[in-house]
Amino acid sequence: MTSTDQTAVTTTGTKKACVIGGTGNLASILIKHLLESGYKVNTTVRDPENEKKISHLKKLQELGDLKIFKADLTDEGSFTSPVSGCEYVFHVATPISFTSQDPEKDMINPAIQGVINVLRSCLNSNSIKRVIYTSSAAAVSINNLPGPGLVMNEDNWSDIDFLKKEKPFNWGYPISKMLAEKAAYEFAEEHKIDLVTVVPALIAGNSLLSEPPSSLSLSMSLITGNEMHLIGLKEMQKLSGSISFIHVNDLARAHMFLAEKETASGRYICCYYNTNVPEISDFLKRRYPKYNVLAEFEECLSSAKLTLSSGKLIKEGFRFEYGMSEMYDEMVKYFESKGLIKPKES
Ligand SMILES: NC(=O)c1ccc[n+]([C@@H]2O[C@H](COP(=O)([O-])OP(=O)(O)OC[C@H]3O[C@@H](n4cnc5c(N)ncnc54)[C@H](OP(=O)(O)O)[C@@H]3O)[C@@H](O)[C@H]2O)c1
Repeated sequence: MTSTDQTAVTTTGTKKACVIGGTGNLASILIKHLLESGYKVNTTVRDPENEKKISHLKKLQELGDLKIFKADLTDEGSFTSPVSGCEYVFHVATPISFTSQDPEKDMINPAIQGVINVLRSCLNSNSIKRVIYTSSAAAVSINNLPGPGLVMNEDNWSDIDFLKKEKPFNWGYPISKMLAEKAAYEFAEEHKIDLVTVVPALIAGNSLLSEPPSSLSLSMSLITGNEMHLIGLKEMQKLSGSISFIHVNDLARAHMFLAEKETASGRYICCYYNTNVPEISDFLKRRYPKYNVLAEFEECLSSAKLTLSSGKLIKEGFRFEYGMSEMYDEMVKYFESKGLIKPKES
């Protein structure tokens, strides 16, 4: 074999993927996993000049070939260059605003427009084998069905009429995820794009970001005591029917698994553990006795109304590697490293 042949083997053996939304928590961990697996990665951010927001991406560039592009979900055509030459496109970004007065404008419309813009760019590239869209358990489990004992799978969609009528806290987010996912399937079917959607539970575990991601702040609120995040956690149980967790590393692994697994098709719920607020509090008290853990939850159901089933993902051959202990050990370590939690005084 000549040296030219060797180069050819290396080049054709290197897979390339695009991750939309590299400043996000899951996206940055996914990029790390892709680079560590030998992928070349293109990622998109809204503002490449924002040093603070992209500092973790600069560090990840030490692991491999990572290129940063400027793109916005609402900017038609801005994804054409980033997806070019890629085999897989991971559409992870999502518009989210907990304080929005106009969810249609701030979340629902840009989420739908974004997924169509990304898929339209993929049409122009003949290298793309599959698009993987990150949806949410919020697109599956929100309903006013009576529990307990409900088991939600990929056939379930949240109740959009209930959300529009009751307008619970942050109602625009589940609607945005649901309508964007449905729009993605419609466009993909019409244009013969291979699309898989991942439906994650609440993301827990480590983070590469300098500021704590909102999902970690919710999960840690029983220790931090942050009132807003604690209300958010309790509201999540009331609205979604459970607190259901997935470790960010398992979620990133599941995204890659579903990209590479030829037989994968449709939606996949990705959830390792279904629990509830009082149970988490008991777990935290036992595992971290040096911290004050909040324990008064009269208004929370002591058992979850429903469970999210990852049976389809497991049947496809995926295996989870991280349990609750790893999830919380890493979050406690992260919050300690940022000085956000302090042990109780002895
Ligand atoms: N966090 C969870 O517990 C959870 C649970 C279930 C599903 N999910 C889904 O998983 C995915 C990742 O979640 P995450 O918590 O890692 O997200 P995240 O940290 O909140 O990141 C959101 C990303 O979306 C980007 N974004 C927002 N609006 C955009 C726009 N108009 N154009 C381009 N990019 C835009 C943000 O960019 P900027 O930095 O520029 O704002 C950011 O990179 C999302 O699709 C989310 O819906 C999350």
